[in-house]
Amino acid sequence: MLRNLYSRNEDEARAAYDIVLVHSAMKRDEVIFGAELRAHAEAGRLRLIERHTDTDGLLTTDDLENEVPDLAERTAYACGPAGLLDTLEAYYGERRLTLHTERFRPTVVDVDAAGGTLTFAGSSAASVETDGSVPILDAAESAGVLMPSGCRMGICMGCVLPMKSGAVRDLRNGDLTVAVPGETHPDGVKIQTCISAAAGDCTFDH
Ligand code: FES
Repeated sequence: MLRNLYSRNEDEARAAYDIVLVHSAMKRDEVIFGAELRAHAEAGRLRLIERHTDTDGLLTTDDLENEVPDLAERTAYACGPAGLLDTLEAYYGERRLTLHTERFRPTVVDVDAAGGTLTFAGSSAASVETDGSVPILDAAESAGVLMPSGCRMGICMGCVLPMKSGAVRDLRNGDLTVAVPGETHPDGVKIQTCISAAAGDCTFDH
């Protein structure tokens, strides 16, 4: 986002936005894009707050309040592991503040998916038992099946496989998708395996 912003018009962007970036990483040399971010900070384009868990401890919401006292007045974006995002969403929710988040894994809702047997009826020729809480992609890979994948968060469609029969549940919202031989398309129903779990036995052409 910052690259996009600064690429449009650096001077204009710098003048128009007051950006504070809080970055937590285990160690200083594990800060993603660390050199680039530090260069932006040195050039006065943003205020960079680095938090290194090995020396500073785990980032907490108290730390955030101390580091960014005007937090409530800022538009907030957060990205990171589920525990961090859950904590931030609770913090912002209690204060009725808006937080924009990006997750690398789907948020799994409580669904009634029962799991089942995944049958890969194409060249993979495999059979995998799974429960209703695990993405089909993860279950298949754990069993050694070579699977197509990409973002693993439901965006790129790189994990789509045709389901010839069966039912899957979308782990983000509980929606059910079924493929019934003779009723649904003979080529199968396209399933995003990274955000879908088995809701019964399923057969994939893969
Ligand atoms: S891996 Fe990108 S949508 Fe599934």
